[in-house]
Amino acid sequence: MALTGFQLFPGRVGADSQHALVAAVMSAQTLAPFYRPVTPGGQAMSVRMTNLGAVGWLTDKTGYRYAQAHPITGASWPPIPPFLLQIWAELTDARAPPDACLVNFYDAGARMGLHQDRDEADFSFPVMSVSLGDTAIFRIGGADRSAPTRTVRLSSGDVCVLAGRARLAFHGVDRILAGTSRLIPGGGRINLTLRRARPA
Ligand code: SIN
Ligand code: MN
Repeated sequence: MALTGFQLFPGRVGADSQHALVAAVMSAQTLAPFYRPVTPGGQAMSVRMTNLGAVGWLTDKTGYRYAQAHPITGASWPPIPPFLLQIWAELTDARAPPDACLVNFYDAGARMGLHQDRDEADFSFPVMSVSLGDTAIFRIGGADRSAPTRTVRLSSGDVCVLAGRARLAFHGVDRILAGTSRLIPGGGRINLTLRRARPA
């Protein structure tokens, strides 16, 4: 399928950097612990979430939004690791750095339904995601929900960029292949989604 603007960089993040990123997420737990978000419809999501960066993406009964503080601890989000800012600068042509890094944790049974990322101010900025830990069956389609979709396996260290016509592509995670990685103690998958949420 030709989906202009979707780019996959398999194994872009090496083993040492994968470990460093997991350690950064874990050491951010005091200020920014994973919590289980609720959709505006009141459903608990199967993924757990937290954020890094000036602003973080939230969902609760009042809707989707970016906020400057963790909804439970009230603390500012810890900073985005410089390594992630560096790969954003290398792999995208964005004219400003990301200000938000959503951190999703998928246990073996977690998934994410098809959705668009559209809570950001300016869709000319790309979305970049880094996969860590167990392999995900990622699904991506087009800008219309009814467009055909395909699946891509995202393994630990893979980076993908949604830019151009793929920026508003529907995407989601069908399932996690448990036991495919030993990176995260206890198993599971962490996805880091970098975005420019506020106007540059
Ligand atoms: C997301 O769209 O928020 C996450 C995608 C992924 O986990 O790969
Ligand atoms: Mn998304």
